[in-house]
Amino acid sequence: MVKLIPSIILLVSSTCAIAAAAPHTLTLHRQAKGSYKDMAASEGNRWAKKATSGVHTPAINDFFKYNIEVSIGHPPQASYPIFDTGSPYLWVSDQVYDVPKSASARSLNSSITLAYGAGNVTIDLYNDTISLGKDLIIKQELGVASNLTALQIQTEGVIGFAPEAMALAYTNQFSYIPTPMHNLIASHKIGKYLFAVDFRPLRNTTVNVANGQIDIGELDRSKYTGDVIYSPISKKSPFKYFWSTDVPKIKFGGKTMVSDLSAVLDTGSPLILATWKILQEIFSDIEGLGTDGRVMTVPKSQVHKLKDVTFELAGGSITYKTEQYLVPSFLEPDFGPTNGTQYTFFGVFGEFGLPLILGEPLMEHYYTIFDGVNKRVGFATRK
Ligand SMILES: *[C@@H]1O[C@H](CO)[C@@H](O)[C@H](O)[C@H]1NC(C)=O
Ligand SMILES: *[C@@H]1O[C@H](CO)[C@@H](O)[C@H](O)[C@H]1NC(C)=O
Ligand SMILES: *[C@@H]1O[C@H](CO)[C@@H](O)[C@H](O)[C@H]1NC(C)=O
Ligand SMILES: *[C@@H]1O[C@H](CO)[C@@H](O)[C@H](O)[C@H]1NC(C)=O
Ligand SMILES: *[C@@H]1O[C@H](CO)[C@@H](O)[C@H](O)[C@H]1NC(C)=O
Ligand SMILES: *[C@@H]1O[C@H](CO)[C@@H](O)[C@H](O)[C@H]1NC(C)=O
Repeated sequence: MVKLIPSIILLVSSTCAIAAAAPHTLTLHRQAKGSYKDMAASEGNRWAKKATSGVHTPAINDFFKYNIEVSIGHPPQASYPIFDTGSPYLWVSDQVYDVPKSASARSLNSSITLAYGAGNVTIDLYNDTISLGKDLIIKQELGVASNLTALQIQTEGVIGFAPEAMALAYTNQFSYIPTPMHNLIASHKIGKYLFAVDFRPLRNTTVNVANGQIDIGELDRSKYTGDVIYSPISKKSPFKYFWSTDVPKIKFGGKTMVSDLSAVLDTGSPLILATWKILQEIFSDIEGLGTDGRVMTVPKSQVHKLKDVTFELAGGSITYKTEQYLVPSFLEPDFGPTNGTQYTFFGVFGEFGLPLILGEPLMEHYYTIFDGVNKRVGFATRK
């Protein structure tokens, strides 16, 4: 008999506000030219390289998300799910993974609903062989989705790299589903609960390029310089279930504008997301701050008054430079009509009890480290 586990990921609950962290919180997305497969086939492979230790997986970027190649089943079927540090599970669309065609697929006879910031997805659970890049081959519990209409973004799947704590916390709602990192370690494919992202901002409208890598199991010291700014994972709830950090201060220029926040590091967020109140506090020197509903805009006349935004962490501060948080003009058409304003990479969110989410546009400027061994996150200056 089919065991149907009802769809319960609590979005609002005082004791358990650990909903899957908004991997994709925007309707903002461009019609990708061709499929992710075309992108990866054309350019992705040349980024894949085997290093002496650790494994390097190319990250493929199509403006607002980074996908990695995951082959599923026997014979392998390629898919390009979003690499998401804000949620713990792997699922793909039935359009890219045809279960009956995989000789190694086993049904787990259950189905669950995941509640993302971008909408809900119901998945049927299977167990099959997956391969990340060319080297990491494991048995993995994964979901297959047949209806993505409730999801506000275009994707063929999500691969979750949230900490084990989040998957364990979900056992309130359904039985434990091992994360890809758990299985990588349990099967001795990697030695350490550690990965780092090396994302690269796009410089033009060419989307079919691999923009960076994910380093799993080890850091790649050739990619950064100087000391790493480390900060422990926040002990506060719900942050403790995420890759997160306390943020004692946010500065605009040299001036402290906001104090005592915590933030989630979410590669699945295409913006730096905060409540409207926090954004207004950070940018209180700017007149006429606005939004298009989600993305923060600044009147063109005020752009010269913008200053660097600094996030002060336990181990040091990381700076998001003005020129880094202004949306470059070649990307504007993908954001929409500007109405004479300037788009930024800041956006309005604040659901799920998460007032601040540091998304991929900030991580694009650092070598960003997710260290499960020492329960901390790190930022290093990219070479
Ligand atoms: C997603 O699922 C949750 C929990 O079942 C529910 O509360 C929420 O309304 C759903 N969201 C949408 C957009 O359907
Ligand atoms: C799922 O159900 C099928 C058919 O009843 C059964 O053969 C299989 O063992 C079940 N799988 C699991 C993991 O329980
Ligand atoms: C998936 O398969 C692996 C290898 O056969 C097994 O160790 C694991 O327990 C399975 N997962 C589930 C949830 O049955
Ligand atoms: C797909 O999901 C949408 C939104 O949840 C629902 O309205 C629609 O009926 C579903 N389609 C199918 C074929 O189940
Ligand atoms: C576009 O940017 C990519 C890097 O993202 C670069 O490799 C390529 O040369 C650029 N193309 C043009 C036409 O400038
Ligand atoms: C521009 O104006 C349109 C129509 O009023 C509105 O829908 C849109 O959100 C505005 N965009 C911005 C960036 O203000």
